[in-house]
Amino acid sequence: MTDQFVAAIDQGTTSSRCIVFDAAGSIVSMAQREHRQIFPRPGWVEHDAEEIWTAVAQVVPEALAGAGIGAGRLAAIGITNQRETTVVWDRATGRPVHHAIVWQDTRTAALLRRLDAEYGEARFRERTGLPLATYFAGPKLRWLLDNVGGLRERAVRGEVLFGTMDSWLIWKLTGRHVTDVTNASRTLLMDLRTLDWDPEILDVLDIPAGMLPEIRSSAEVYGTAEGLSGGEGAGPLAGVPVASALGDQQAALFGQTCFQPGEAKCTYGTGSFLLLNTGRSPVASRHGLLTTVGYRIGDEPATYALEGAIAVTGSLVQWLRDNLGLISSAPEIEELARTVEDNGGCYVVPAFSGLFAPHWRSDARGVIAGLTGYVTRGHLARAVLEASAWQTREVVDAMNADSDVALRRLRVDGGMTANNLLMQFLADVLDVPVVRPRVSETTCLGAAYAAGLAVGFWPDLETLRGQWRQDADWEPAMDPAHRDRELRNWRKAVARTLDWVE
Ligand code: G3P
Repeated sequence: MTDQFVAAIDQGTTSSRCIVFDAAGSIVSMAQREHRQIFPRPGWVEHDAEEIWTAVAQVVPEALAGAGIGAGRLAAIGITNQRETTVVWDRATGRPVHHAIVWQDTRTAALLRRLDAEYGEARFRERTGLPLATYFAGPKLRWLLDNVGGLRERAVRGEVLFGTMDSWLIWKLTGRHVTDVTNASRTLLMDLRTLDWDPEILDVLDIPAGMLPEIRSSAEVYGTAEGLSGGEGAGPLAGVPVASALGDQQAALFGQTCFQPGEAKCTYGTGSFLLLNTGRSPVASRHGLLTTVGYRIGDEPATYALEGAIAVTGSLVQWLRDNLGLISSAPEIEELARTVEDNGGCYVVPAFSGLFAPHWRSDARGVIAGLTGYVTRGHLARAVLEASAWQTREVVDAMNADSDVALRRLRVDGGMTANNLLMQFLADVLDVPVVRPRVSETTCLGAAYAAGLAVGFWPDLETLRGQWRQDADWEPAMDPAHRDRELRNWRKAVARTLDWVE
């Protein structure tokens, strides 16, 4: 087995990457490509699924070349992906019928208000674990059915297929139309207990069942990559089992080996997502968290999670770079923030897609609060970093209240965790130690682990757990009175984001 490797494709919000791992779970090689963010109107965000497939088809052979291996040395490949982003494509031509509607997109707000008024949110929450928010895939699919000419008729005739990015890529690679339970749990269409599409919700949303993928576990062989769908990417992968799919946040939970109930991780990417393993049964949230599927390995029962989803963290740093030009690269923010002692009284609440957990207010819009003539670029940079930590604090508070057990330490991963100033501030505002693993690419690692388990490359979860290694940790060091004062200011700034959109 040692001359074999496992690869994972991470199709994320801003880029697609492929990483090759060895049997110890160490990174052998990596390739990455960005894709366009399309903003047709304020609050709307789209991706071109063809462009994404082209990027995937480029990064896979690049990563294999980087590792100096061919497909024959891959025991399996796994897929992890930005969740909720919605694609509909033509079954015969393989062409998407419209740009993909991205998870951050808020165009379904009016539809969700109507559903709430007519049926009540409780009915959806009870079945799916999710609130009626613009975030989820099902209403985005309904929008496409209502707004792309002739699409509903074509869907009824079985000519078009729906999928999240996992489905789209698996279909391109193998020709199979499937999704995994973690991705399906983000559609607002799946019953969390039966792990199947909910016929009543499909009825209410008027979605033809025939266009939906089959829901499978997160770790099993869905098919072998054969290039059936005409993609160039399948060529170099020919014959490799496509053996896992997990939404990226669930993959990170898996890659961090949070296999025990009570274990949690937070991933800092475009947004940030804190997931707590709650074991074999779904736990309903009373404090604005999502109930979701953590993972399901083959025929084993599913493991569930509570999730605090924060829409904007890393993308706020990108906004500072691309829209305001205050920094020229994302890592520069740490240097700029270190030019000042504190935030200078300034707070940034990045409610670009409304506010996600624990507020779920799609009518919120971002604010910069506390501005005076004293505030400099450095203070603004600091407030931008602090926003990620305060938003995490809000979801940790909700999680502690929901689970009745206080979080004792937090495993973190993702690009922003390279920022030591932010990691110290995070430990300070959470008042618990923050721990970063040696492999910070836990999203890909989780998908690779699940794929490797499915084909027997790794024997069991214990082996994976034994491979987890710590890189660094941060202890809380902030004066409690100062923390409380800052928290009160943060909450005042959050209150100012509400009721912006009629
Ligand atoms: O739910 C959205 C999430 O899956 C996006 O993750 O890392 O692409 O920002 P990321």
